[in-house]
Amino acid sequence: MKAPLTTPMEVTVEKMVYKGLGLAHTPRGVLFIPNTYPGDKLSICDIYKKKGVLYGEVKKVLTPSPFRHTSPCTHFPKCGGCQMIDVRYPDQLTLKTNIVKDCLGKLPHLIDMIQPIIPSPDVVYYRNKMDYAFGTDTDGQLIIGLKKRGHFDKVCPIEHCHLQSEASNTIRQFTETFFREAGETARNPVTHEGNCRHLIIRESKNNAQAMVILVTAKANTALYQKYGKALKLAFPEIQSIFHSLNTSQGDHTFPDKLSLLEGATHITETLGALQFNISPYSFFQTNSHGAEVLYKEICEAAQVTKTDTVLDLYCGTGTIGLYLAPHVKFVTGIEEVESATEDAHRNAQMNQIQNIRFITGNVKNILKQTPITANIIIMDPPRAGIAPKALRRIIGLRAKKIVYVSCNPNTMARDLEQLEESGYTVQSMRLMDMFPNTYHVETITVLTHNFA
Ligand SMILES: C[S@@+](CC[C@H](N)C(=O)[O-])C[C@H]1O[C@@H](n2cnc3c(N)ncnc32)[C@H](O)[C@@H]1O
Repeated sequence: MKAPLTTPMEVTVEKMVYKGLGLAHTPRGVLFIPNTYPGDKLSICDIYKKKGVLYGEVKKVLTPSPFRHTSPCTHFPKCGGCQMIDVRYPDQLTLKTNIVKDCLGKLPHLIDMIQPIIPSPDVVYYRNKMDYAFGTDTDGQLIIGLKKRGHFDKVCPIEHCHLQSEASNTIRQFTETFFREAGETARNPVTHEGNCRHLIIRESKNNAQAMVILVTAKANTALYQKYGKALKLAFPEIQSIFHSLNTSQGDHTFPDKLSLLEGATHITETLGALQFNISPYSFFQTNSHGAEVLYKEICEAAQVTKTDTVLDLYCGTGTIGLYLAPHVKFVTGIEEVESATEDAHRNAQMNQIQNIRFITGNVKNILKQTPITANIIIMDPPRAGIAPKALRRIIGLRAKKIVYVSCNPNTMARDLEQLEESGYTVQSMRLMDMFPNTYHVETITVLTHNFA
């Protein structure tokens, strides 16, 4: 609930913390302030509490932080896609490194271990997947854009997105015009009225292929087929067009029905010497050029040999395991999304890699049911990190080396604490930027254990 201040309060932002929030100490307590940078002197007009945390709303920037510069994107800061596109890239890397250091507060001995952050090969137009939302503008017209910053139910109209390729920008514009002319409505996430929900565009950066997935709440096969044909005619380079029916109230659930409208069932990305199939709902690193750097770094960090048996946990489409397989004895990948492990099997066949297998299921359950031995574990969990029971079972495997790849330094710090308590020692920690212009940062931590 918001509590407007009778007299605006002056504060100075001390640091940026996880989620890209500015932190300031005030007489009211620690305040987290969105859209601010270290060194900003601010006038705060509102304070509000969410889940026990105090947030401040800026009335005016009194003295801007030296981190602030001009944004190349006209939609910033209204659009929720980027949180720091107005910060110069080397400064973004400093802020991200400091966020990780801040998250390691309970494990200060690890801070000195952080090696310099590896930059992303591309700073703009690097994403190979964009999940646009349908919405309605102030004139009541259907639009396709990105969620407004801090709003799950409002869409920011986009002219040009600096995260996505020019081709993807054009496909979005074409789709917007098509569904406006068809008299379609956007699904309202609050009232659940309307039809069109999302437009997902996936691209292969190294093979110039694209996949388009139109997500709607209602079935209207004739209209979607017409859209598929018109889109393919306008953009012959699109490899694959799907319609996804999602009648649920929540946005990010798997579809009730997925129908191929045009072309192939997947696109193919090339990373290094390997080819990867990508299906509509399989996880694939969203920065292809960055992924090549990340995977090389993981291989080097793991220092594998031909006698190693590797477990690739949370393996998605099997990319890390497939990268490592030629250099080790055997790899087992575990992933809960069935379409991702199906892709992983196909990827192994396509790349003629035989010393690998993939198991579909929840890491926690699979480790309970299936006897698995591995002397090296690579684990790349989602943002929530590793569930406590799953982590206990991972520790129970008694692997001498663990490479923990994390996209959330908060949950990583929690999991590393447990790993250290169980006898693992952190040997190295390297950061990598896979998501320029956002607060996200990837960390690769190597741990070892001298099991008797
Ligand atoms: C950060 S992604 C890593 C994917 C892969 N390592 C890569 O680089 O492409 C996390 C993956 O974990 C999967 N996942 C999430 N929770 C899981 C669980 N409890 N058990 C198994 N897989 C899970 C997700 O579907 C996703 O593919």
